[in-house]
Amino acid sequence: MSSISQKIETLREQLRRHEHLYYVLDAPELTDAEYDSMMRELKALEDAHPELDTEDSPTRRVGGKPREGFVKVQHSSPMLSLDNAMNEAELRDFDRRVRGLLGDGEEFRYVAELKFDGLSLAVHYRDGKLAQALTRGDGTTGEDVTENAKTIRSIPLRAPPEEVRGEVVFTKKAFEKLNEERAAEGLPVFANPRNAAAGSLRVLDPAITASRRLEYFAYVLIPPPPTQTETLKQLKEMGFRVGTQWHSCSDIEALVAFCKEWEEKRDSLPYEIDGVVCKLDSVAQQQRLGWTAKAPRWAIAYKFPPRQEETVVENIEVQVGRTGALTPVAHLRPVSISGVIVSRATLHNEDEIERLGVKIGDTVLVERSGDVIPKVVRVVKQGTESRAFRMPKACPVCDGEIVRAEGEAASRCININCPARLKETILHWAARGVMDIDGMGEALVDQLVDRGLVKNVADVYALKFDDLVNLERMGEKSAQKVLANIDRSRSAPLPRILNGLGISFVGERTAQLLAETFGDLKEIAAATEEELQQAEEVGPKVAQSVRKFFAEPHNQELIERLRGEKLCFTHEIKKREGGPLAGLTFVLTGTFPNLTRDDAKQRIEAAGGKVSGSVSKKTNYLVAGEEAGSKLDKARELEVAVIDEARLLEMIGGAAG
Ligand code: IVH
Repeated sequence: MSSISQKIETLREQLRRHEHLYYVLDAPELTDAEYDSMMRELKALEDAHPELDTEDSPTRRVGGKPREGFVKVQHSSPMLSLDNAMNEAELRDFDRRVRGLLGDGEEFRYVAELKFDGLSLAVHYRDGKLAQALTRGDGTTGEDVTENAKTIRSIPLRAPPEEVRGEVVFTKKAFEKLNEERAAEGLPVFANPRNAAAGSLRVLDPAITASRRLEYFAYVLIPPPPTQTETLKQLKEMGFRVGTQWHSCSDIEALVAFCKEWEEKRDSLPYEIDGVVCKLDSVAQQQRLGWTAKAPRWAIAYKFPPRQEETVVENIEVQVGRTGALTPVAHLRPVSISGVIVSRATLHNEDEIERLGVKIGDTVLVERSGDVIPKVVRVVKQGTESRAFRMPKACPVCDGEIVRAEGEAASRCININCPARLKETILHWAARGVMDIDGMGEALVDQLVDRGLVKNVADVYALKFDDLVNLERMGEKSAQKVLANIDRSRSAPLPRILNGLGISFVGERTAQLLAETFGDLKEIAAATEEELQQAEEVGPKVAQSVRKFFAEPHNQELIERLRGEKLCFTHEIKKREGGPLAGLTFVLTGTFPNLTRDDAKQRIEAAGGKVSGSVSKKTNYLVAGEEAGSKLDKARELEVAVIDEARLLEMIGGAAG
């Protein structure tokens, strides 16, 4: 083996190990940034040595080519659903039926598992490699979502079984973040994590699935071992993520206890469960009991009661976020939903209010799920004197102007010095994983902003001991600690600063890529939209937002002050000379099936190639889409190779992410 192929294999092995630690065992040893950097190193090596690339490399998780539609495929055996037990009595009925069918005195055990609230997915392996992933569909035939499933890191790309079935879920945290982003972008929000999981798995572009970070819990192994207990153990050994909370029960009392326990504790989990699945443990006994037309007789789903209650919308007020976006919040007549008093529910934006048709005074159905902010499901009854909500004309916090830009769902306070925005901005700057200023939480930031001690993030670095020590809940010791933490944050690397600035669409990853491409904040601030798009994964939307941020005089001033505070503005540039398209010149013409021209250009450049505007003898390839015009004639005349989008993506390395 050459040293390159050795290096590639070692990286793959390491990445697989870290994926397993992170996604299956929840025990990461690397930070996200270290993991990303290892992944990028592997990608770069594979790009430079396409002959060493393999289908099951961890880099394949970033998302393969977009598809035109999903192919329907028949399941190896039907994916049936389960009968429900809506309460304890129905669960006891199930137990009686099982005992009746098994016959007097026969010994048996149950296995109780959490019922994950997602969508089921069958994953097939051939020769130890992931070959096909199918959604449940109508139970008989499912949709082939293989490329998308490959991006889910708790589904091993290499594993020994024939087929595994399980549930794709969205974590509550990821769900909330996604909806926040969608609301801010004016996209419809997902009703719950299950819909978000379905929506993310059934998209044509795997890069979207990849960006959503779904999880997979496995619970069926085909062919099955003799017991369900054994199934769960083997799945775990094979590298699948198995719900850690399952229990082998010797009788119905143990089963009931497990169901009650998780009905109480469901909020403590990072993902949604909607019940407990109770299964007969022995497969031989399962087979004797068999199936009805629609469900097995040997299992039942004990469903938790829905967490919805009716209440009255007493008012709708707006909250101002970091980007100035106003979020309407329904103030509710307090209502207890399975033990938790709920008095507020998010309404996201004006479009959502319109979709729900909700007015102040209406009776609505409110749903609470876990730690997620409660939401209004629908209007149950209009109030006799209900009144429509109007977005305020002025910001409720600073009285500044409110603007709703064309095509945007969010109305925003455009005063960048609005205290509400400022507080959110400072909190984000100080947050863990951003500038990491421990001790700078809400209580402190509120006081700093309200007393005018901090008017922007640069002011944080000018704070003195005397400023802090007199604040509420601040002693000498904690003031000193906070100051030391502020000081330490001066050495945070550039990507963190970029993330901390709170530029729309620039999160951790984009910040990293921008820093690696430009190497200096000065360069990023001065770059045109076109230049910005040379950074990997930066498209027109992000470029425009970055440009707009740095064009704003207040922000320019801020940057200068941060420079004066000796923050770290430089970063090591990642050379991409070794990219798969290094040394090649491309010309683009016509319309491509998936990529926009800008996308194509960006990807070619990211892979080390050049894009030129006109065909000449120096052109290596003309990438021609539909309705290609004179450039195509010219290329033929000069005998320049003509390729299509698919071939281009292949040359880049297949990843459409
Ligand atoms: S076993 C034939 N186990 O719930 C038995 N299903 O309402 C196959 N589900 O279609 C299902 N968590 O999508 C099983 N631990 C679990 C589950 C589970 C969630 C889903 C699954 C099934 C539906 C039935």
